[in-house]
Amino acid sequence: MERLDKILANTGRWSRKEAAELIRAGRVKADGVVVTRREEKFPAGALFQVDGETVSGDRYVYLMLNKPAGLVSATEDPREETVLSLLPGHLRRVGLFPAGRLDKDTVGLLLLTNDGALAHDLLAPKRHVDKTYLVRVDGVLDGEDEKAFREGITLADGYVCLPAGLERLGPSEAVVTLHEGKYHQIKRMCAARGKPVVFLKRLTFGPLALDETLREGEWRPLTEGEVKRLQQR
Ligand code: URA
Repeated sequence: MERLDKILANTGRWSRKEAAELIRAGRVKADGVVVTRREEKFPAGALFQVDGETVSGDRYVYLMLNKPAGLVSATEDPREETVLSLLPGHLRRVGLFPAGRLDKDTVGLLLLTNDGALAHDLLAPKRHVDKTYLVRVDGVLDGEDEKAFREGITLADGYVCLPAGLERLGPSEAVVTLHEGKYHQIKRMCAARGKPVVFLKRLTFGPLALDETLREGEWRPLTEGEVKRLQQR
């Protein structure tokens, strides 16, 4: 059993204070009945509505972040600021962590969740989820690069990458699709072609696509449909 204001705040859509105001204003129903006391307790399985819209009372939170450059994809770091610093206080206390990593200077789609089982499943190498990136390089991309990506790039340390997609958008810009996730993978692949990465942005993560209305540093909860697609993939 959990307090109604906490259940609403745990969805990531409202702070505890905002949730309390919604409740006080009579805008929240639990199992079809308006509840005006924020401290009233409910089981997670109850059906919650705010202004008539169904809200999941699940204990798990799923956020899509448009990661800015300059922050590390971690929950704690002794020296660097982490992506969690972008979240309001109430969301820093629900055990969120980034599902996967983007380099400090990489921007774009990062999933934050406290659903360890789902994250574990999404990150398991055997069940790899495809990811796509917008890449800008110092140099001009050509058909030979496309072919090399398709056939599997050999990195400087001798590792032979799985075939990857390289779809050119302009002379120095492309969308790269990866079917595996190695450390600094795209940077090392492009470096192996003699064309170092100067900008990298993740566009998709499995069935999730970056919401382009989110500016760098902004986040939003996943929709129910997005969570379902992640669970079902
Ligand atoms: N490849 C990289 O080199 N860096 C990232 O952040 C993601 C993929």
